[in-house]
Amino acid sequence: MVKKITGMEWLKKQIKKLEITNSEFKEKTQQIIKIDPNVYNEFQAWTPLKLILLNYVLDVCTTIIKTKSFFKKLYYIDLFAGSGINKIKETTDFFIGSPLIAAFNHADYYNEMLFCEKNDLFSETLDLRLQTLNKKNLFVKKGIYENYLNEILEKVKSAKTYSFFFIDPNCMEFTWDNMKKVLSTKSDIIFNFMSSEINRAVGYAKKRKGGNSLTKLFGDTSWKKASNHEDLVEIYKNNILKERMDAPIRIIKVRSKKFHFCYHLLFITNKTKGGNSWLRAIEKAKKEIEKNSDKAVEIALDIVKKRQSELSQF
Ligand SMILES: C[S@@+](CC[C@H](N)C(=O)[O-])C[C@H]1O[C@@H](n2cnc3c(N)ncnc32)[C@H](O)[C@@H]1O
Repeated sequence: MVKKITGMEWLKKQIKKLEITNSEFKEKTQQIIKIDPNVYNEFQAWTPLKLILLNYVLDVCTTIIKTKSFFKKLYYIDLFAGSGINKIKETTDFFIGSPLIAAFNHADYYNEMLFCEKNDLFSETLDLRLQTLNKKNLFVKKGIYENYLNEILEKVKSAKTYSFFFIDPNCMEFTWDNMKKVLSTKSDIIFNFMSSEINRAVGYAKKRKGGNSLTKLFGDTSWKKASNHEDLVEIYKNNILKERMDAPIRIIKVRSKKFHFCYHLLFITNKTKGGNSWLRAIEKAKKEIEKNSDKAVEIALDIVKKRQSELSQF
C-alpha cells in the first residue's frame, strides 16, 4: 500500500519541487537565474504556499485534460506573471515563479502559454528566461494585462478550448469587470484574494467614506456589509456564484503566524456531469496547506536546505 504523506513530510515534498536547489529542474533553473541575476520578485515566507497550490492544482487539471480528446486547444494564462524567479526576503532562498512552474511542467501540453507583466524589467527578464527553454508556444505580453485581456478571451472562448487562468495580483489590481469576463469563459481559475489587506482597505474606506477601488474589486458595494476578512471572502465568493452558477469553488486560507496576516486562494471550476470527483485531490492540498503557515515553511526550508536536521525540531 502507498503510504499517505501528510504534515511536514507533505510540505517538504512540495517545497522541494519549487526551491531552486532541490527542484527536478535545478540545472535549467541555474542557467535561467544567471540571466539578470538581480531581477526577481521578493516575497515573504507565506508565498511558497501559494506556489505549492498552483503547482498542485495545475498538475491535477492538466493531467485530467490531457486525457480528454474533446479539447482541441489548451491555453494557460498568467495575468500577473512576475519575473519567473522569486526570493524570500532577508534570506537566500529562491523559488521558481508561477511562469516557470507552468512552463517547466506543462509547456508541451498547451497550445499557448501567455504571461502578462506590467513591470518592464520583470517582463524583459521573464522573456529572456523563457527563451532558454526553446519552446515556440510561450509568450510574454509586456505591459498591463488590461491591454491583452480581450484578445486572450477571444482565443479561449473558441469551441472545444480548455483554459486555465492564474490571477495573482499584489492586492486589488484585478477588477470585477475583468473577473466577470474571465468567469464567462469556462476557464479553471486560481485567484489570489488578499483578504487581510482588503480588510484593512475596508476599515479605512468606512472611516473616510471612500472605497472606489473596493467597489471596482467587488463589482458593487457588497463589501460594505463585511465585518472581517472571512466575510469579505464569502461575499466575493457569492458574487462569483451570481456569474457562474453552481461553480464548484474551493477556498484555501494561507496564514502568516509571524505577521497575523492571511490571504485566500480561490479555485473556481465548472460543474461536470461526472460530479467533479477529482476535486478530492484539491481538498487534500487545501487540508495540508491550511495546517501550515509561514513558520512551517521556514522550518521545512531549513530542513530541505540542510540548515537544520530533522531531529533538532523536537
Ligand atoms: C504577486 S506578483 C506575481 C508573482 C508571480 N505570479 C509568481 O507567483 O511568481 C504580482 C506581479 O504583477 C505585476 N502587475 C501589477 N499590476 C499589473 C497589471 N495591471 N498587469 C500585469 N502585471 C501587473 C507586478 O509587477 C508583479 O510582478
